[in-house]
Amino acid sequence: MNYDDILASFPRRRLAFLPTPIVELPRLSRFLGGPRILVKRDDQTGLAFGGNKTRKLEFLVGEALAQGCDTLITGGAAQSNHCRQTAAAASVAGLECHLALGGEAPEVPGGNLLLDGLLGATIHWGGPRRKGEDIPLIAAELRKEGKQPYIIPYGGSNPVGALGYVEAAREAALQLAALDLGPAAIVFASSSGGTHGGLEVGARLFGLGSRLVGVAIDKFGGEGPSLAERIKDIIERTWALFADAASSPSRKGASPPQPAFEPILREEFLGGGYGVVGEAEREAIGLAARMEGLLLDPVYSGRAFAGLLLMIRSGEFKASDSVMFWHTGGSPALFPYARDLLP
Ligand SMILES: Cc1ncc(COP(=O)(O)O)c(C=O)c1O
Repeated sequence: MNYDDILASFPRRRLAFLPTPIVELPRLSRFLGGPRILVKRDDQTGLAFGGNKTRKLEFLVGEALAQGCDTLITGGAAQSNHCRQTAAAASVAGLECHLALGGEAPEVPGGNLLLDGLLGATIHWGGPRRKGEDIPLIAAELRKEGKQPYIIPYGGSNPVGALGYVEAAREAALQLAALDLGPAAIVFASSSGGTHGGLEVGARLFGLGSRLVGVAIDKFGGEGPSLAERIKDIIERTWALFADAASSPSRKGASPPQPAFEPILREEFLGGGYGVVGEAEREAIGLAARMEGLLLDPVYSGRAFAGLLLMIRSGEFKASDSVMFWHTGGSPALFPYARDLLP
């Protein structure tokens, strides 16, 4: 069955510069004594400083427009990259944008928060609620005002958003085949699960053979499901969305049978907790910057890259292997973390 056509049948508003390049880090690789290190540059997706959420937003905004919505609502931490990219996507698509952010208004907004303001988003401060808990309340208010809001969940991580990473897996599979490269593993930051879930589904559909290794960035505490459970749930629902489209009456296809998924989530690199920069993140960010001119971020890609360095140093890869780090963006958050990053 032609899965390209099925993917192309979902509403999509183009927002990103694709494909993002795959580059090598030869100096860092030599410094570490191997393996060959490749980077998939999704920090260069292009929309208002880029990042992984732009890919998800192509499908989410596509659906919002198809439903005739006039406003996007989402939420996250004060320095959320997802919220900044949502604000930018709303600007491109001519939609209003409301953001439910954790914390309180600072005196001087910096990093992503400065960009949210420039991009014209309306901010609703939620104090300790930093995972979009206030979104339903804001949506209800907007509906009372006659607006038609489209709700984007925390991190843009639902099956529609995950389609962005189904497509990304397809893109990477094509690129790696053209370069004749087969990385032993692909390592990336995982936090709300949509990137991880989408990559898993896309890898199966489009033949991306590398081991996918998510590095957990945040703990989901309390009564709710764990991140690993969330990833599995997103995988199942994304597969179902894809299978439904494949077997729609107009397509007359058979839905692809769901394979068994065993997502790998490494949870030992959580350090001081979400958004806390420790020695491991500082070293990873410094090494990538000084040896390769590559900017990571303090919360996600810095932590995931620190995890990759630990995996390399503990001998998880042979010197002759290649590994690919999937850079998910986040560099605007470097600025508000200045005190934690320089000696
Ligand atoms: C820079 C960056 N990397 C990785 C992630 C994690 O992606 P996901 O939420 O899809 O797990 C995020 C999420 O906010 C992010 O901003």
